[in-house]
Amino acid sequence: MDIKSELYLGDCRLVLKDIPDNSVDLIFTSPPYADQRKSTYGGIAAEKYVEWFLPITSELLRVLKPSGTFVLNIKEKVVNGERSTYVMELIIEMRKQGWFWTEEFIWHKKNSYPGKWPNRFRDAWERLLQFNKSKHFSMYQEEVMVPMGDWKKTRLKNLSQTDKIRDNSKVGSGFGKNISNWIDRELAYPSNVLHLATECSNKNHSAAFPEGLPEWFIKLFTQNGDTVLDPFMGSGTTNIVAQRMYRNSIGIEIIPEYYEKVKSEMQPVQYMLFEPKPSYEKDQPERRYSVR
Ligand SMILES: C[S@@+](CC[C@H](N)C(=O)[O-])C[C@H]1O[C@@H](n2cnc3c(N)ncnc32)[C@H](O)[C@@H]1O
Repeated sequence: MDIKSELYLGDCRLVLKDIPDNSVDLIFTSPPYADQRKSTYGGIAAEKYVEWFLPITSELLRVLKPSGTFVLNIKEKVVNGERSTYVMELIIEMRKQGWFWTEEFIWHKKNSYPGKWPNRFRDAWERLLQFNKSKHFSMYQEEVMVPMGDWKKTRLKNLSQTDKIRDNSKVGSGFGKNISNWIDRELAYPSNVLHLATECSNKNHSAAFPEGLPEWFIKLFTQNGDTVLDPFMGSGTTNIVAQRMYRNSIGIEIIPEYYEKVKSEMQPVQYMLFEPKPSYEKDQPERRYSVR
């Protein structure tokens, strides 16, 4: 099977127009967080952010398949001691554009630096907003199951009577659970909090993803041969991981230096024989140089 990776140098606002309608299975990206890293790769003032981003999300809505998913890694920067509201405004405006806001995942940065700030504590998490075209989309939940771990030894050992029957929500939410269903299982579905360390030190880009981050979402929302798009490619983490996982990928980057570097690391087309899937969370050598 041929696995293709298409890399483009340019502004994604323009380049995206050349990508066909309904052709991408997963969009996984991290745009500039307003002008937080102005000195390294520019950015947009917080008050102009939504206006700048909406034409891009409009193109993303067009290129995404009806079964596809858009995962947006973003965080609001602090301006004059106060968190900006552009992420919230963006969600509201994207819903008006036709996006379905399915979920919010949290990336807990396990290794955030200690520090002291006058009016806040260190920032150890970022948002991963999941958008779809409707509530029906492709999701391969079994691919990201986790060991039951301590639950098996503690909570599941001491079940109350209520735990053994279906326990309907007391607050009337309509949700119910029967915890005893999980007693003999080795694996459970994960939560919406991902615990991963940042990995920027050796990559020549101040905002590179840890490889485990795109890997987890690529497993959850795509299959071999599907297409993954990162319109703010940076050091190419999404694309490089996608290629290793036998997914086609498209990457767009506005800075020539980053683009050239990724181009030198990726094959435009690879013939793949399917083998067991690699895992990037543990024991991976530092990939290459470091981009936020
Ligand atoms: C947060 S970084 C992405 C880092 C990436 N996730 C990685 O793992 O290296 C955002 C990137 O978007 C690029 N960028 C900013 N505006 C862009 C635009 N309009 N079109 C394409 N790329 C853009 C920046 O140069 C930067 O490399």
